[in-house]
Amino acid sequence: MTHTLTKHHPDSPNGEDDISKNESGNRGFESVLDARLARRSVLKGGFGLAATGFMGVGLSACGGGSDTDNSFRLGFTAVAKNLNDVVTLPAGYTYSALYRVGDPINAATAAYANDGSDTAASFEFRAGDHHDGMAYFGLNAAGTAKSLSNSSRGLLAMNHENITQIFLHTSAEVGAGFPTTARVAAQIDKEVNVHGVSVVEVQNSTGTFAVNKASTFNRRITAATEMDLNGPVRGAALVQTKYSTTGVKTRGTLNNCANGVTPWGTYITCEENWAGYFKRPASANPATSKEQVAQNRYMGTGASNGSYGWANPSGGDVSGTDLYNRWNITVTGAAATDDFRNAANTFGWNVEVDPFSPAAIPRKRTAMGRFGHEGAMPAKAVAGKPIVYYMGDDSRGEYIYKYVSTANWDAADANGGLSAGDKYLDSGKLYVAKFNDNGTGQWIELNITHPTIAAGYTAYGYAYTFADQADVLVNCRLAADAVGATPMDRPEWTGVHPVTGDVYVTLTNNTDRGKTGSFTSGKARGLDAANPRYYDDGEGIKGNANGHIIRMKETGSDPAALSFNWDIYLFGAEVGLDTTNINISGLTADNDFSSPDGLWFSQAVPSLMWIQTDDGAYTDVTNCMMLAALPGKHGDGGATAINVANTAVPSNGAANQTVATYAGKDASAATLRRFLVGPKGCEITGITETPDGKAIFINIQHPGEDTLAANIATPASYQSTWPEGGTARPRSSTIVITKTGGGLIGS
Ligand code: FEO
Ligand code: CA
Ligand code: CA
Repeated sequence: MTHTLTKHHPDSPNGEDDISKNESGNRGFESVLDARLARRSVLKGGFGLAATGFMGVGLSACGGGSDTDNSFRLGFTAVAKNLNDVVTLPAGYTYSALYRVGDPINAATAAYANDGSDTAASFEFRAGDHHDGMAYFGLNAAGTAKSLSNSSRGLLAMNHENITQIFLHTSAEVGAGFPTTARVAAQIDKEVNVHGVSVVEVQNSTGTFAVNKASTFNRRITAATEMDLNGPVRGAALVQTKYSTTGVKTRGTLNNCANGVTPWGTYITCEENWAGYFKRPASANPATSKEQVAQNRYMGTGASNGSYGWANPSGGDVSGTDLYNRWNITVTGAAATDDFRNAANTFGWNVEVDPFSPAAIPRKRTAMGRFGHEGAMPAKAVAGKPIVYYMGDDSRGEYIYKYVSTANWDAADANGGLSAGDKYLDSGKLYVAKFNDNGTGQWIELNITHPTIAAGYTAYGYAYTFADQADVLVNCRLAADAVGATPMDRPEWTGVHPVTGDVYVTLTNNTDRGKTGSFTSGKARGLDAANPRYYDDGEGIKGNANGHIIRMKETGSDPAALSFNWDIYLFGAEVGLDTTNINISGLTADNDFSSPDGLWFSQAVPSLMWIQTDDGAYTDVTNCMMLAALPGKHGDGGATAINVANTAVPSNGAANQTVATYAGKDASAATLRRFLVGPKGCEITGITETPDGKAIFINIQHPGEDTLAANIATPASYQSTWPEGGTARPRSSTIVITKTGGGLIGS
């Protein structure tokens, strides 16, 4: 079967993260020609200098080779790729489904019927759908207070990114031409409540983890929950709405993808593909051309009713509180405070949740910028140094960002909750990454005082003049365009190696790169050293079909540095593809993969990294998977040159171009091994562990998502019935994995 990268998985209900809205032309085709000339000179004579430069950083920082903890060895037998409707684990490992969509979080809520009959209101006390990023926070033995090192009792905070819509409603509802343009309000309410975040207590008192439904910490946050806007954008004109005319609040968090944690014991949930949910008119509705530029850059240029039509309840919005109107950003009133034209500006943020304070209102941390936030992982907190977060913006051709706090870390804040969040996350500098072809890079601050930002930016035929720093943060994609940031092949999760400090970012795939006609402006985005592949995977997918993982070494090993060196740690590929130009990392049948998305470092096993896939390119051969990795360090490979065949690049004119880049050391059985393959139609995403490393929690998101609405009453035609099997509807679930007889996961 020919597979396609036109993914319709719910990351992208409208293909949101598959559609480039970056028309900046940064690193466009013209600049690539220049860069190619420069690269040739680098290859011929200049590379030695560049290589010495970045190797030197690694050696000086790490003391010459003892920088990774090499005492841990992968000890399991690799799992084979497969298309089975089960979770496949290595021999000696078992799992149980711990927290499935619809599972009650209190004793008063009935067991999930899983036939679409469960009410909208009940979902305020049930697991949401599409479990994604997740973190474990230890509780004391009595279950009354934080005790982060406890491995037998803790809180799981997790995201519910999206929904598999047909499985939330009854067969009768879905069978009746579902969904119609005018939606049933009760169905909308349910879909809203199924989004958001869960905090649930889990306890292992009998040898198996279970949700403690009596816990007072259990909580659902939904796409309707009251949120505070914090940081520099709080109160700004750009976030004033009819709901909060002073611009200090909004309702809901949305499309919560990956996550972050803080050194003060709170959870960060990241809003990714929120843009698709809003009803918006065709161009020229916004009050000003400036607003049009911003709308185009974040939401695309076309009209939309929103992914699920939440702005269109049958009979109109009679809630009296604009529960549905708030999803419509059309200008209808005289001023922004009369309508919801700015509602979308209140989404696209990192949101801090204190899992230990069930009544606390979540805070959207606007200093960290607004974009399609995938995840936010911190550098190690060091007393007297700033707190630093690395963040991906997941859409084709978007950027990698870094946040550096103004305040320096004080360990006395370790239990500071949201107040500590105010201190470290409401004031800081936002940077965007520029990757140079010689293996170096810069962090460019996005500040209204930057000359290029101050000068304004022209896009879509309009001039955009930033009003102030709040405008820069709300529209930081435009600011990043202006300063020449490097468009990447869809930045997903970030992770910081606990020992080396190297920063890893998954770049999941990109079939736009190299094509002409991908943008309304007709610009092509060529290849560059940091995004160097364009190939035909042999089955019709052209571009960077399988993704890669880039690695950055901050100058001086200082997370707050303004420059870095980089290499490409790992290239995704199908085994059997050309090992010089495509399968560059030398993947084998035991570790080949496509579309890396989740990436996470164990805290219990210092050099162990997990890679999770969300794929549409290799899914004719295997369901999505998780691999265990023992990465080396920046600079452990070397310079390489990739030949891009002219047959693979039919339209950008760059026939047979050679792209020079820097590749990490090849993978081997000792350093990369497939640990898990999921059931049909799922992606594997979200991971956390008990502090002793003896249990890991992962999420199986959207099994069976390719099931057709027409088959809703025919379970035999479901793509998946995991985890319950039989005739059950499939359910996104958190699973907990342990090793028989105990032991570190992966050993
Ligand atoms: Fe929600 Fe980019 O994955
Ligand atoms: Ca993801
Ligand atoms: Ca994804």
